[in-house]
Amino acid sequence: MKVLLLFISLLAPSAFAAYCNGSPSPDAPENNIPIKKSQPVIVKSVKNGLLQSSSDNSNQFTISHLWGSPYEQGLAHGQLLSEDIAGFFETTYKYLGDQVIGSLPNKLGLPSWFLEMAVEKGLDGALDWTYNATFDYVDPAFWEELRGVSDGSGTSYDLMRRIHMLPEATKGHCSMFGASDDATKSGNLLQLRALDWDVDGPFKDNVNIIVYHNDDSSDRVSWTNIAWSGFIGSVTGFNSQQLAISEIGVTYPDDSFGEESRHGIPFVNLLRDILEKDSHFEDANKRISEAPRTCNLILGVGDAKTGEFNSVQYSNSVANFITSDNLQPVNDTWHAPIEDVVYFGMDWLCPNYSEVLHDRLLENWGQIDAEVAVRDAIARTQTGNLHIAIYDLADDAAYLSFAKRSDDDDDDAGSMAYERQYTKLDIAELFSTEAPTL
Ligand SMILES: *[C@@H]1O[C@H](CO)[C@@H](O)[C@H](O)[C@H]1NC(C)=O
Ligand SMILES: *[C@@H]1O[C@H](CO)[C@@H](O)[C@H](O)[C@H]1NC(C)=O
Ligand SMILES: *[C@@H]1O[C@H](CO)[C@@H](O)[C@H](O)[C@H]1NC(C)=O
Repeated sequence: MKVLLLFISLLAPSAFAAYCNGSPSPDAPENNIPIKKSQPVIVKSVKNGLLQSSSDNSNQFTISHLWGSPYEQGLAHGQLLSEDIAGFFETTYKYLGDQVIGSLPNKLGLPSWFLEMAVEKGLDGALDWTYNATFDYVDPAFWEELRGVSDGSGTSYDLMRRIHMLPEATKGHCSMFGASDDATKSGNLLQLRALDWDVDGPFKDNVNIIVYHNDDSSDRVSWTNIAWSGFIGSVTGFNSQQLAISEIGVTYPDDSFGEESRHGIPFVNLLRDILEKDSHFEDANKRISEAPRTCNLILGVGDAKTGEFNSVQYSNSVANFITSDNLQPVNDTWHAPIEDVVYFGMDWLCPNYSEVLHDRLLENWGQIDAEVAVRDAIARTQTGNLHIAIYDLADDAAYLSFAKRSDDDDDDAGSMAYERQYTKLDIAELFSTEAPTL
């Protein structure tokens, strides 16, 4: 049904724009679980790398701290997490393959162009085609780092390279907001990135927060990627210059998006470039404007130094910067402007989620902080099944929640990230972690 609606909307976009499916439950409960402060413990060190664990069963993740050149950072990453990396990439490849051949339902949301190509060329052929179509636009240092991860972990480079093409061939739903000035309790920027994707596959396991400690002599800043063991593209993260990213895959566009392209920079690389290379809001926006863009997305970029935030209507043909003064798409019933807030619930045309997110933000306007976001806005919109990051970078904090892992047998806790206990990361502590002396 979803595929059919999408198909119709592509054929006749101006005559008929489809809306996304589903809606949050009208009885969605608040999330009243107290936020827990992160107290990471060291589990392993290697040359240029330190591995910590969240020491917290209800919200378990690892943190890899990396130093050195891109290759050295990759090598350390691979050495720190070799078993996790092998497991994650092999399981993901199998899971993807089962969806392509239809022995599992298409929970990753693989689009018809990719499925058709996989029938024609095989799964590897389709992923390699995407690699080829995007290769020229990717920073060569990215492949050096991935080579390091492969050498350090012993996991096949070709396998890792192929799995890194997956985000370009799927679409998460996801939600975001940026609230600042009079809308927030502190007056600072508070930014949401809620990832709604597949919670049945391997992505709820092997959560890895990667901290790149880049020194002043390199052209890269220190930054943090909320990712998976060995996965070095970025869908969620922030940097030491107080920039942060949000992202929504657009499955229900209107005709203002224009055409998609498969040739250009994969969005996980563009987002990574912002976090790794940009220090100011304007730099990130310029990068987005000038990028050879591919698929339809809504990006979110925030700069906590200045409190600026915008969402970006992003496609091959457009990069439109959306602030609270020019909220789009305009609709008084489900996407009404809110002063000092930009928000999107699940998709571009998604009245049921956007309206609830709007109502929760308006209800709390002037008092919006991380606690309100966790307890009310996110939980009642029921967005962020796989992972959630709330960035309060002016306060040196990021609040994270993840879907229940497959090895977590606590039956009392919910399984969606938005129902679970959040962990507060101390960002100053994160970036000032010292390299091990080996
Ligand atoms: C939106 O929610 C309403 C009321 O819950 C429901 O009737 C409708 O089917 C939903 N729309 C979509 C596109 O799912
Ligand atoms: C992409 O495909 C072309 C044509 O087959 C080939 O010449 C080129 O080397 C490929 N590029 C990469 C990065 O694999
Ligand atoms: C707003 O959205 C509703 C559907 O929820 C639609 O019926 C209406 O035409 C839209 N209004 C505008 C101005 O697009």
